[in-house]
Amino acid sequence: MNASVLYFSQTGNTKTMAESIVQGMQEAKAEARAFSIEALDEEWLRNSDCVIIGTPTYYADVSGKMKLFLESLSAYKVAGKLGGAFATAQYIHGGGDIAIQTILRHMLVCGMAVYSGGGAQGKPVIHLGPVAVGQDIDADRQLFRLYGQRMADKAKMLFA
Ligand SMILES: Cc1cc2nc3c(=O)[nH]c(=O)nc-3n(C[C@H](O)[C@H](O)[C@H](O)COP(=O)(O)O)c2cc1C
Repeated sequence: MNASVLYFSQTGNTKTMAESIVQGMQEAKAEARAFSIEALDEEWLRNSDCVIIGTPTYYADVSGKMKLFLESLSAYKVAGKLGGAFATAQYIHGGGDIAIQTILRHMLVCGMAVYSGGGAQGKPVIHLGPVAVGQDIDADRQLFRLYGQRMADKAKMLFA
């Protein structure tokens, strides 16, 4: 099962978390790779059953470049794939959940099936998708690895 983790990152936090998700997916035996939305491997993306997208939180939503990318998402033939979303933010009340909802909404419009990594899996619960908060980004790495494992397990259940 191939997977793509796509991100926009200006100062590195979102890239770091994308790499933690990839690590978790690989631990769950998925062929996962991370790409900046500015340097995609389109063939890998086309051949991915699972597509996870992450953004920094800007003004309590996705960044502008991520919004533009989301408006071109259907061109990558993502319909029918499993989708998930994550965010990084400066503040716990800074809008990371809203940024995640924007990504998930675009995925739904494109005909993707979305999954959160969710509450039914026990602790740590992940409600909409993981949000890494604050300066100490390393503190959230383990959560993002676990999220990657859960997304990979769900994709394998659906597509293997
Ligand atoms: C223009 C701009 C707007 C931002 N707006 C918010 C915000 O509304 N809420 C928040 O919690 N953090 C906000 N931040 C902080 C970023 O979301 C946070 O530092 C993020 O981890 C940066 O990701 P990156 O290192 O991948 O670029 C903002 C940062 C910038 C540059």
